[in-house]
Amino acid sequence: MVNLIGSRALLERFSQFIDPEVEEIFEIGQYLIKAGGKALRPTLLLMTCESFGYDPSFALQLAAGIEFIHLASLLHDDVVDGATLRRGIKSANLVFGNEACVLAGDYLYAKALELYANFGNLEAIRILSRAVMDMSQGQLLELRSLGKVLNKEEYFRIIDLKTGALFASSLQIGALISGQEGHSKLYKAGVYLGRAFQIVDDVLDYEGDESKLGKRVGSDLREGKCTLPLICAEGALKDFTFPPDDPEALRLRVIELGGTKLAKEIAKEELSKAFNILLEFKELESLTKFLRGLIERES
Ligand code: IPE
Ligand code: IPE
Ligand code: MG
Ligand code: MG
Ligand code: MG
Repeated sequence: MVNLIGSRALLERFSQFIDPEVEEIFEIGQYLIKAGGKALRPTLLLMTCESFGYDPSFALQLAAGIEFIHLASLLHDDVVDGATLRRGIKSANLVFGNEACVLAGDYLYAKALELYANFGNLEAIRILSRAVMDMSQGQLLELRSLGKVLNKEEYFRIIDLKTGALFASSLQIGALISGQEGHSKLYKAGVYLGRAFQIVDDVLDYEGDESKLGKRVGSDLREGKCTLPLICAEGALKDFTFPPDDPEALRLRVIELGGTKLAKEIAKEELSKAFNILLEFKELESLTKFLRGLIERES
């Protein structure tokens, strides 16, 4: 189990839990799984179990459930964002169509809850359900703020919901099923982790390398989405209209004005807030080492 953590083999193991009657659901799920992915959230859950002395092989279905929630959110996100590339290949919405991706996402959300129900820990089901509710609300808030310049608080509210909630749940559920009394304390650490992770995702959308990232660069500004690099550079921008007429020119300008550099500094600060909580648990020291990679990443 330990050597599976974080690997493509771990993702492929999850395929066994997708067993629909309708073949196309399986195809869509497999399409994303085969393309790879970092498997971060299930890894976080399994490493938390392992750190607290709970055998991670007993938690495999819970890790799969977390990844299925994530896959469902990616399927829906690519429909909402009109994406064309995901995990280095054509996004599923282009291949299977928006309608099928929405429906396959629904299947995966419900499959995740079924896996949790079979495991039988009610509190874990509650935490996971809350994460899905938070994610959909974050995504809707973001949709409604397209074309508007946000402040840092508004931006944090959105990303804590759309991304922080699932990171937080992965950590908390791992601690909960390991019998840790302080599991709810870890939720906040997970929100900070998710925040740092999403900030870096937003930085990579400005200055990442498409071939490493497996997603299009510059898509946020093309969609009229205001993220932290823009918020950080806004004070220094002159003659600035939003949504931009020329997203590419604005992207380069934001980088030039230090918006991405400053955003990355903020991501580091958020990561240290997470570490301050995590390190109250001496068992989590090795987990924090793994998590340092969340900032200096290219994909
Ligand atoms: C993408 O998540 C969605 C965000 C929250 C930014 P990941 O970057 O973890 O996606 P995969 O699973 O590795 O493809
Ligand atoms: C969406 O954020 C995060 C989710 C909850 C799916 P993005 O829209 O920035 O994610 P990517 O960049 O498409 O992976
Ligand atoms: Mg997207
Ligand atoms: Mg999105
Ligand atoms: Mg993104």
